[in-house]
Amino acid sequence: MHSDVIASEHATRLAAVDPLLPGSSPFESTENAVVLDVDLGDSAATGRASRVQVDRDAPNAPWRALTEHRLDLQLAGPQPAAALDALLTRWDEHLRAVAEPGDTETAAVLPRASRDAAGTREMLHHGFAPLRVVAVRPADRMIPEGPRGTPGVKIRRAEPGDLDTAVALGMELHSFDAQYGTVNLRSGVEDILAKDLAEQLNRPEPPLWIAELYGRALGMVNVQHPGETGWISDRVKAGRVGYLSSLAVAEAARSSGVGTALSAHAHQVLDEEGTDVVLLHHAAANPLSTPFWYAQGYRPLWTYWQRRPAVR
Ligand SMILES: CC(C)(COP(=O)(O)OP(=O)(O)OC[C@H]1O[C@@H](n2cnc3c(N)ncnc32)[C@H](O)[C@@H]1OP(=O)(O)O)[C@@H](O)C(=O)NCCC(=O)NCCS
Repeated sequence: MHSDVIASEHATRLAAVDPLLPGSSPFESTENAVVLDVDLGDSAATGRASRVQVDRDAPNAPWRALTEHRLDLQLAGPQPAAALDALLTRWDEHLRAVAEPGDTETAAVLPRASRDAAGTREMLHHGFAPLRVVAVRPADRMIPEGPRGTPGVKIRRAEPGDLDTAVALGMELHSFDAQYGTVNLRSGVEDILAKDLAEQLNRPEPPLWIAELYGRALGMVNVQHPGETGWISDRVKAGRVGYLSSLAVAEAARSSGVGTALSAHAHQVLDEEGTDVVLLHHAAANPLSTPFWYAQGYRPLWTYWQRRPAVR
């Protein structure tokens, strides 16, 4: 099957399951990526297998394995699950040639449209788990009324003097999420977070807000405005894309409406800027964040399946 046909059939199937997914174009080999194809007659699959390596002190290292093997894929024909199964077997052969067996700093990552169910069982059989979700919140989404909130909680924009508070809340969030395997608690993570937060807090209008009660910080929310989201905006069919980078509430203050108040504030800021959708990442298995985000109007868009180590 020709690559144009696979790309267009794939795009048609995805558009039918989710109108917020972007289109698909045929894959091309590049210096860092090879194209793998399987043809089963009436059905076919194609994948772009790439590899990205980062140093442990790189700004994005806390959120990924140091070596990430990734397969972007397209499926066509009446048997997409069988085509995916064959493609995964082909990718496994490729990974055995390029990845160190047993190295937990390697991961094999498969991004899938969350609502594209084809081949889910096959991915499990190949040892992949649905680890991380990119969730989307359309601007006009109605949400049920949340918890009533703690009286006296004030939300204010963060300032440079909040650096220690922001780093402490950021580390509390990072340690919690690390239990679910989506982020990594390596030595040096605190320095990476502190550098990023200091840079944001030193902007004229930091994109961070603090919730406080009688002067004591209870939580923090951090966003990226439309215009700063070029790194992720092509994952969704929408004009102005905002991104919610993180929300953390101190353990002692959880389940009392602080998170809801911070998230409502962030959405109000982004809505006022004419944002069409807001995206965020969350760990699928996190029992606090998953129900919380879906109560705030989000729903899954992309699911990142992962096997770590990439080769057992
Ligand atoms: C996720 C987190 C930020 C939520 O903050 P929070 O202050 O506890 O949130 P709230 O009190 O406003 O809301 C939590 C509760 O209300 C529920 N809720 C929130 N909005 C709701 C709504 N609109 N309708 C119904 N229920 C709602 C939540 O499911 C949760 O219920 P529970 O406590 O009874 O289990 C916080 O738990 C946290 O910091 N967790 C650890 C770090 C983390 O996972 N951060 C998110 C990273 S993506």
